[in-house]
Amino acid sequence: MAAIEGRPVGILGTGSYLPKKILSNFDMEKIVDTSDEWIVERSGIHERRVISGDESNASMSAAASLEAIEDAGLAPCDIDMVIVGTNSPDRLLPGVGPTVQAMIGASRCGGMDLQAGCPGALYGMVAAAGGVASGIWKNVVVVGSEAISRLVDWKHRGTCVLFGDGAGACVVGEYREGALKITHADLAADGEQRELITLPAGLAAEPATEETVRDRRHFIRMNGTEVFKFVNRKIPGYLENFCANCGIKTSEIDWWIFHQANIRILDGIARRMEIPMEKFVINVDKYGNTSAASVMIGLHEAGADGRIKPGQRVLMCSFGAGMTYGAMLMES
Ligand code: COA
Repeated sequence: MAAIEGRPVGILGTGSYLPKKILSNFDMEKIVDTSDEWIVERSGIHERRVISGDESNASMSAAASLEAIEDAGLAPCDIDMVIVGTNSPDRLLPGVGPTVQAMIGASRCGGMDLQAGCPGALYGMVAAAGGVASGIWKNVVVVGSEAISRLVDWKHRGTCVLFGDGAGACVVGEYREGALKITHADLAADGEQRELITLPAGLAAEPATEETVRDRRHFIRMNGTEVFKFVNRKIPGYLENFCANCGIKTSEIDWWIFHQANIRILDGIARRMEIPMEKFVINVDKYGNTSAASVMIGLHEAGADGRIKPGQRVLMCSFGAGMTYGAMLMES
């Protein structure tokens, strides 16, 4: 765990993009053997978005980035780096980051993808904060974006009902009055548990063959029950320690922006940590699990609709494939 030192760092602007096409639970009933009742009870999800037409991971990332840049009062030429946290890039080469750099016309900046499971964008924010604090970069666009509907097995009811597409973005830059100040961050992983969520085939370990396609090994596989247990076992204690190291009590956090895996996981965390759910920023009900995008969409929506008020503390926490996790403390 580290306090951010060097130049003070803040979130100068935020944005998001959600695909136009909505798939309700009733639509899912027509695709796999499931029910609205089962999905709502097990996950809290009512509907999710999926890309269609000319929408892509990069187009969502670019739209969210441009909104964040405008919200920050900046222009694309002011951006030094674009970091896209994603687990569903349009292609492995080229990355989404450089594609976004071109799409938004950020002529003098770098672009990269950061793949770290659902915390990918949170990992990206910590990298950006470090780069800004040290003076390497002035303004960094961090995006969480997923076109994950293209990587889920639409014949497997245990996973396809849970995920959705979308993007959220923010500009991380030198702190100024009115911005959310990033004060502390921590990133962690338990790679021993890396087989809990996998996408086995299609890359170097298992290049695509007729057999891998036949066995549907190009889709996300998840041991949902074990993921559920891992998060409930690990995250509450981790966050208690994180807050203690920041010198605050968990009760002093005004808003918790958790990764939106599903409502039962969040409910379990809330009960173990004795935090009222009213302090949680929730979007899993309308977007499903948008993986790396979920916390970024939450950050944008809670800021844009006025939930986050001056003088408040915001804690962002994510967890996912790897298994990776992390937390970041911000003050408005
Ligand atoms: N509709 C109806 N029934 C379904 C279903 C669906 N969409 N998906 C699974 N089922 C069935 C299973 O086949 C099983 O039936 P069976 O007992 O006849 O075999 C039954 O429901 C229970 O399945 P199980 O997987 O044990 O359910 P669960 O209570 O563990 O809930 C999850 C499944 C995935 C919702 C739950 O494990 C979970 O939330 N895990 C965390 C996953 C997650 O958030 N991952 C992302 C982390 S980044």
